[in-house]
Amino acid sequence: MGPPILEINHLTHQFPSGGGIHDVCFQVFPNEFILLAGPNGCGKTTLIRHLNALLMPSSGDVRLYGKPVTSDITKTRKAVGMVFQDADTQIVGDTVYDEVAFGPENIKMSRTLIQKKVTRTLEQLDLFHLKDRNPASLSGGEKRRLAIAGILVMDPEIIVLDEPFANLDHPSSMSLIKTICQLNQEGQTIIMATHDVEEVITRANRMLIMDRHGRLARDGTPPDLLRYLAAHGIKEPCFSRMGYNSPPWQT
Ligand SMILES: Nc1ncnc2c1ncn2[C@@H]1O[C@H](COP(=O)(O)OP(=O)(O)OP(=O)(O)O)[C@@H](O)[C@H]1O
Ligand SMILES: [Mg+2]
Repeated sequence: MGPPILEINHLTHQFPSGGGIHDVCFQVFPNEFILLAGPNGCGKTTLIRHLNALLMPSSGDVRLYGKPVTSDITKTRKAVGMVFQDADTQIVGDTVYDEVAFGPENIKMSRTLIQKKVTRTLEQLDLFHLKDRNPASLSGGEKRRLAIAGILVMDPEIIVLDEPFANLDHPSSMSLIKTICQLNQEGQTIIMATHDVEEVITRANRMLIMDRHGRLARDGTPPDLLRYLAAHGIKEPCFSRMGYNSPPWQT
């Protein structure tokens, strides 16, 4: 399988309020599609914010190719691209094109390379026809794809998505899943945090379940972990409640 991209070692983060995560350990390998599942408030966002050094641990650490993510934060943030729970707050450009060009411009990439990469990324995420639009005028689904484009253009080692389906209708969610699966098939490593696994559980190849107290309760393949979901306050997918191990209607 090769060496891990990320190692999460005994990661603990204690908020003064009492919430947080406790002694979380796992590794992330190239080309995995990991679903991080758990009920509201269990610490999913807290955990993934440590992966690109947006939060500092109370104890334990996160390593990127063996080095603490805090040792070179610029490098870490480029390698671990984060699409936030509220993707709207991430948008800074006046047009869709500018928005995607923002990251490459910041690292002083050449004009020609920026043009090539931005165009390719916009095409990849089916946003090219919207390139001159103001991001504020986009639909929820288009905005979510734009947030992913802004990350993808930087060639991250890992894309982390926090509740990417929040506020999206069914067709937009489906189209986003298709895009994410395609990126994964092309080799992109993905971590997706969500409290609602219904639409995506059959697409991921690994699932981590967090319990209500911010501990990692399970780490395994989605089919193996289906029976533990309900006990951890996660809604069991419809096909599983009907007694199937995978959706018989999915091709
Ligand atoms: N900045 C903060 N200050 C104090 N407590 C916090 C802070 N951020 C999160 N918490 C607390 O830590 C716990 C975990 O929150 P977190 O947002 O990580 O959960 P989550 O699993 O992402 O939830 P959701 O499914 O609602 O997004 C919660 O009890 C929350 O109230
Ligand atoms: Mg969250």
